[in-house]
Amino acid sequence: MKNHSDLGLEDSQLIQNFSYINGHWHSSESQISVTNPANGNEVAKVSNAGVIETELAVNAAKGALKMWSAKSANERAGLMRNWFNLMMQNQDDLGRILTLEQGKALSEAKGEVAYGAAFIEWFAEEGKRVYGDTIPGPSGDKRIIVIKQPVGVVAAITPWNFPNAMIARKAAAALAAGCTFVVRPATQTPLSALAMAELAQRAGIPAGVFNVVVGDDASGMGKVLTQHPDVAKFTFTGSTPVGKTLLSQCATTVKKVSMELGGNAPFIVFADADIDAAVEGALLSKYRNAGQTCVCTNRIFVQNEVLEQFTEKFTAGVEKLAIGNGLDDGVIIGPMISSKAVNDVDKLVQASIAQGAKVILGAKKDPAGENFYQATVLSQVSNDMPVAKNEIFGPVSPIIAFDNEEEVIAMANDTEFGLAAYFYARDIGRIWRVAERLEYGMIGINEGIISNAAAPFGGVKQSGSGREGSKYGLDDYLEIKYLCLGGLDK
Ligand code: SIN
Repeated sequence: MKNHSDLGLEDSQLIQNFSYINGHWHSSESQISVTNPANGNEVAKVSNAGVIETELAVNAAKGALKMWSAKSANERAGLMRNWFNLMMQNQDDLGRILTLEQGKALSEAKGEVAYGAAFIEWFAEEGKRVYGDTIPGPSGDKRIIVIKQPVGVVAAITPWNFPNAMIARKAAAALAAGCTFVVRPATQTPLSALAMAELAQRAGIPAGVFNVVVGDDASGMGKVLTQHPDVAKFTFTGSTPVGKTLLSQCATTVKKVSMELGGNAPFIVFADADIDAAVEGALLSKYRNAGQTCVCTNRIFVQNEVLEQFTEKFTAGVEKLAIGNGLDDGVIIGPMISSKAVNDVDKLVQASIAQGAKVILGAKKDPAGENFYQATVLSQVSNDMPVAKNEIFGPVSPIIAFDNEEEVIAMANDTEFGLAAYFYARDIGRIWRVAERLEYGMIGINEGIISNAAAPFGGVKQSGSGREGSKYGLDDYLEIKYLCLGGLDK
């Protein structure tokens, strides 16, 4: 096993090698090797938990539920604030761990840690505002009262592309609402999750409230989390096909669910847009995390009048994005998560070239290593080519020309996905019309980065259901209970 002191951390205790269940670190017989996608080097070994440990974690969460839900919102907020503070105090180490296991550039990884911590801070406060209601009754001797209560034990499965923030976004809302929590993080990136557990323990979050089970039995552990009768709510971030399977498993016990699934985000540049701002927004939205986010721009639509100008400036911006090991200074685009991911992206690109797309930049694997793909710009793309039809999940920008508003809205909406969309325009009438007609859960208007703790994150169509972040995100972890108070007449 790797000596943790080699990893360049201030606090080597942040590397934990065991699942965290009921306040204890649990070892298992077999181990998983966590490797750095930039070079294939082993970062750490982690105990490989399975179905039994997942059941133990659910039992622990069930056992802690009464105690945690009975705490006042203030008490919960105090403990969550400790957790937030510890995450921010350890931002550099957490960022480094994240880059080592996931690959993204260190500055972006530290940004993700702050983004994740922000959910803990935000929901700690919002938990104090879980208000009920009184409603005029149907007759004089009755009153209608509405209270909100935690749903119960929450189970989560989280992805490798945001190993910290996707856990924080779910756990923060759950804990603030008074629920207890079990998460199975992606097998490729368990170290960020376990570091969060270490800090939760130091923050004083009681045993059983936050549990992390790491293991490669995705199907077996997934079945426990989606079918266990003591799990009241299941939440997932990941691909649409996997989401559909998990959703059907949740039906067996009629769980409350939230699903944050795939996307195919259009990024529309109208002729009246500020072109420099649009270029900057497109670069940020497309190349964040090497193109591996559900809200990344997937198709860039540019109105014919500004096509040449936008393409030239955008390509010049892409050329400047340094590719390499995320720990190296100046790197913007790190490795992709695996060589399979690189091959999948390359297949979409080559199939689109075969159908007539023109290569302006890239379109090939990068010599930096087997997990690297060059930042790519393709022109003369049409909306039915493979790079436009599929979620690319890589650093590839297909540019599609359009003539008018009607045409581009039809093309933008021509997908089963509906997570994020972006457009750049200055005409206020157009801004309202387009924002209302795009069939997406989130719209960036003259903005390429839209995610933050105060905003409702989530999609429509096959991009999922439920919202994370914001006051709406808290509702996903609360049940509404109606009290009918009668017999008030003497
Ligand atoms: C995701 O890729 O699912 C999350 C992106 C974000 O939170 O901005």
